Amino acid sequence: MKATIKADKKDPKESTRGFWDSLSRPIITLAPMADVTDAAFRRIIAKYGKPPVMFTEFVSCDGLCSEKGRPNLLHDLIYHETERPIVAQIFGDKPENFRETAELLAEMKFDGIDINMGCPTKTVVRQGSGAALIKTPELAKKIIRATKEGAGDLPVSVKTRIGFSKIEIDEWMEALLEAKPAAITLHLRTRKEMSKVEAHWEIIHRAAELAKGTGILVLGNGDVDTLERAEDLALETGIDGVMLGRAIFGNPWLFNRSRKTEDVSFEERLEVALEHARDYEELFSGKKSFLLMRKHLKAYVSGFEGAKDFRIRLEDVNNFSDTKSLVNQLRESYISVK
Ligand SMILES: Cc1cc2nc3c(=O)[nH]c(=O)nc-3n(C[C@H](O)[C@H](O)[C@H](O)COP(=O)(O)O)c2cc1C
Repeated sequence: MKATIKADKKDPKESTRGFWDSLSRPIITLAPMADVTDAAFRRIIAKYGKPPVMFTEFVSCDGLCSEKGRPNLLHDLIYHETERPIVAQIFGDKPENFRETAELLAEMKFDGIDINMGCPTKTVVRQGSGAALIKTPELAKKIIRATKEGAGDLPVSVKTRIGFSKIEIDEWMEALLEAKPAAITLHLRTRKEMSKVEAHWEIIHRAAELAKGTGILVLGNGDVDTLERAEDLALETGIDGVMLGRAIFGNPWLFNRSRKTEDVSFEERLEVALEHARDYEELFSGKKSFLLMRKHLKAYVSGFEGAKDFRIRLEDVNNFSDTKSLVNQLRESYISVK
């Protein structure tokens, strides 16, 4: 089937690909993950295995555009120079709020803006945001255009799914391509599938075919857990890049080409876990619960004798100081275990 993509005549600006053009191919990115890839974890990842691109967690445009909401959300937009290129991911359903938010993000000197059109959760979908935009392609296009207007020279990309209740890659890609984002990352599941089935990598060929000749980058996402696999997939399918998500959990070495995760000693894992907990407290004390940090700590601590017992004891840590005491006790008890 040959698709004809209509150029978006009403679009006031041509697409800019900004930093995306400076990346080597295939482009490998770290997925945005709410309550996981926050500023503290990204700082650790940038130090121990920096991916070519990172994204913030998704942040509400409506919240950022309200006087009351903005101060509570700004900690989700903290980033460090070491993370560049860093892309802010936003969600919402009102084009005017996307425009205003894009202006703010440009002032904050982000390297790019990504629009979330894939979040499957009920609260987001009920508002007409995230994956719900797949059902309203005209609104989705307006949102892309409005974001581009506010973004100035920053590239605007989209992260989405391959359909709402069923796979509808042709219709959905055609709508997105008309509004000319710089890049489209496809999480290769429908909204209905949530994360319950294997990602449909067989669909990515079609997406690449539809985008051919448009200058719009296509990246695939879903179930990829190593850098090698990501690169093989990009080569096999002819897409521009691959995004990795959950594989980063407890593993900031995922993107490190000179250091394999399995070569990281138990001692070093503990050191990095502590450093992460310290950064977390410094950045988020009084703003975010330490419960989220506990999940990270548990993920760092696996694969050694006594790990299960240690994870249970981590249930009681509430701050950096608790974590440090527990880690020191663990070091003494398991010092010979690597
Ligand atoms: C805990 C969690 C939070 C997520 N938050 C976001 C988010 O804020 N924005 C987004 O576009 N996708 C989000 N996702 C989806 C991921 O970016 C990614 O598409 C999904 O995990 C599939 O990739 P993977 O199999 O490599 O993990 C999240 C996923 C998880 C597991």
